[in-house]
Amino acid sequence: MLRLKNLGKNFTMHIRGGMVIQSFERVSFETRAGRLLALTGPSGAGKSSLLKCIYRSYLPSSGQILYTTGRGDTVDLAAAGDGEILKLRRTEIAYVSQFFHVMPRTPALEILMEPLIIRGLVREEASVRAKEMLIRAGLGKNLWEMYPATFSGGEKQRLNILHAIIAKPRLLLLDEPTASLDRAYKERIMEMILALKEEGTAMIGVFHDRDALLTLSDSRYDLSLGAYCPVNADPAEQGENE
Ligand SMILES: Nc1ncnc2c1ncn2[C@@H]1O[C@H](COP(=O)(O)OP(=O)(O)OP(=O)(O)O)[C@@H](O)[C@H]1O
Ligand SMILES: [Mg+2]
Repeated sequence: MLRLKNLGKNFTMHIRGGMVIQSFERVSFETRAGRLLALTGPSGAGKSSLLKCIYRSYLPSSGQILYTTGRGDTVDLAAAGDGEILKLRRTEIAYVSQFFHVMPRTPALEILMEPLIIRGLVREEASVRAKEMLIRAGLGKNLWEMYPATFSGGEKQRLNILHAIIAKPRLLLLDEPTASLDRAYKERIMEMILALKEEGTAMIGVFHDRDALLTLSDSRYDLSLGAYCPVNADPAEQGENE
């Protein structure tokens, strides 16, 4: 479903006299429906930048990101126009950021219904589905009409994840999705991610947490090695300090 070929990203710092910062280079891997590929490497290796390139929040500097759409066409996400990227984000590709993004001044329930309404569900059905998800993630009724700006970090993170998975994207990009969750919620969210994977969503994930990495991943690409490596390789060797 997704194949990266020699992907690279660098940043030119205009305020620093045009200094170039290499985020990552020559990354090549592929992943399929129903599989999760974990991205590992020390802090600063470029894991978040790579996910942002696939979601196209960043424009890659070199290489290709070949994505096979639901209609069976192949699109190079590194070169596609903004209109096409926005369409894919609305219907096929979802992303959970490492940091809580600012959510619009919209009640939580409404935010969660939106991806379903975009895909053609009527409000009634969307509301039922969204409420089921909120309850499963431990976000009670008292929060449904609130603005997420007032939520705790963990509540925001859970809402972010639900928003990304509720409409069952074909491709899901996860940047440390369980980082600020306590054990019980982490497990519930991991179950939801596993269930979605079984339904055929292709996923690329970054996990600080070794449990989550081992439970969720089918394969692993390490950015500091520039190669695939065993899912259970010792993180100490990779310079990841817990
Ligand atoms: N918008 C940006 N402008 C300039 N440099 C950036 C930008 N985004 C990322 N970088 C640089 O790219 C490199 C990789 O950053 P990135 O956030 O992708 O690392 P990471 O592997 O996700 O690290 P962490 O594990 O700490 O989240 C860093 O050197 C960072 O400073
Ligand atoms: Mg990161």
